[in-house]
Amino acid sequence: LVAGIDSSTQSCKVVVRDAETGALVRSGAAPHPAGTEVDPRAWWDALGVAVREAGGLEDVSAISVGGQQHGMVVLDAAGEVIRPALLWNDSRSGQAAADLVSELGAAAWAEGTGTVPVASITVTKLRWLARHEPENAARVAAVCLPHDYLTWRLSGSTSLDDLVTDASDASGTGYFDGRTGTYRRDLLAHAFGRDDVVLPRVAGPREAVGVATAFGAGSATGRPALLGPGAGDNAAAALALGLGPGDVAISLGTSGVVSAVVAQPVSDPSGTVAGFSDATGNFLPLVVTVNCAQVLDATRRVLGVDVDELAALALAAPAGAQGVTLVPYLQGERTPNLPDATGAMHGLTLETWTRENVARAAFEAIVSSLAVGIDAVRDLGLEVASIRLLGGAAKSPALREIAPSVLGRDVLLPAAGEYVADGAARQAAWVLAASRDGSGDGLADLPVWETAGTEIASAPAAPHVREQYARAATQFLDRA
Ligand code: XUL
Repeated sequence: LVAGIDSSTQSCKVVVRDAETGALVRSGAAPHPAGTEVDPRAWWDALGVAVREAGGLEDVSAISVGGQQHGMVVLDAAGEVIRPALLWNDSRSGQAAADLVSELGAAAWAEGTGTVPVASITVTKLRWLARHEPENAARVAAVCLPHDYLTWRLSGSTSLDDLVTDASDASGTGYFDGRTGTYRRDLLAHAFGRDDVVLPRVAGPREAVGVATAFGAGSATGRPALLGPGAGDNAAAALALGLGPGDVAISLGTSGVVSAVVAQPVSDPSGTVAGFSDATGNFLPLVVTVNCAQVLDATRRVLGVDVDELAALALAAPAGAQGVTLVPYLQGERTPNLPDATGAMHGLTLETWTRENVARAAFEAIVSSLAVGIDAVRDLGLEVASIRLLGGAAKSPALREIAPSVLGRDVLLPAAGEYVADGAARQAAWVLAASRDGSGDGLADLPVWETAGTEIASAPAAPHVREQYARAATQFLDRA
């Protein structure tokens, strides 16, 4: 058996799967504290609860952790957490991001790290810390990411030298070059003012990075469970789905993500596409919006309806919601890069201001904002052969109709699953297989797991929805 962990923004999930067939054996979950700064020890506590709920890890032979990307976990020389981690969706470092770009230029960042810094990226949070909390900054002995912290805690080590990460998550720090697989300590030093902090070693995609000593993991198998390098959540999901070149995924979760697996590194000096690495040795260009599932939640609250009622209301309105258009920047926005923006509703009249139109506008807004990401990926010359819709919100019947209508093409709906935890479990199976046969370094050696069927969602194309959204968002940009 292998275990995969998803330490996400909202919760921790653990899946235990059969390493050969991938069959799900057990699972557990526990919530995370709300907010955009969270004490990493709370993730460790949630993992303990989720592990118990999943029936323990004693019979598991390998474990990998997938996690929310970019979160700044800062540790002192004794390995203690210095302050709560600033998460990917914390926008306080928006000014720091703007400063870093103007100091070195967007092209230098894009060429050096694949990514032009925005508030989500770790390096901007370190600049914020150096400027706003110099005493904390001075105590920093190591910086790591959420998934690295949990892998380290699972190992039981308290030595900072044992911190490990993988290329997919390292590529989201803003101080790692995915093309060469090395840190850009010079960029970190520029941003943070110090070049003496420990950074996690970047392990290979199927490398056993140690063994788990926590939770008695592996004790019933006669040997401690191996630890895989883990991955950022988007890369773990791509691994679970076995995405290859041309396969694009749209994930509708706390963040909205468009991602594509490609063989060559990508850099976009405009900053729209982040040139991240994947968890297999390839690359995973990403476009991320920070306003996605929570836009639906907020709309639901305002209308006083549940998830099913919201979908029914949206489906009762015509495509384009009679001109009612939501610009959904409820928490600032990352794409476009407007960390201080707020939301706006356009096109309201006495006739059009209905619950149905307001509900539909919310769905159309989150899909339209991600359609911009699909265009950006295509504009870089990358193939978009298929689009898969993932994440909690993809379960909504409204999204299953509105996504193909706004995107103007069929979308694939893979069977519901815990893709991030499943991808981590798949990596654990890969690590286990590599440790047993001691050979092989290619994806071909990754055990193939049967996956449940994929449905196809179709709807008549409604190009006016995107045009109307673009007009509303542009008006906002002009005013901003
Ligand atoms: C990716 C990103 C988000 C988080 C969410 O760049 O910021 O998708 O990884 O967990």
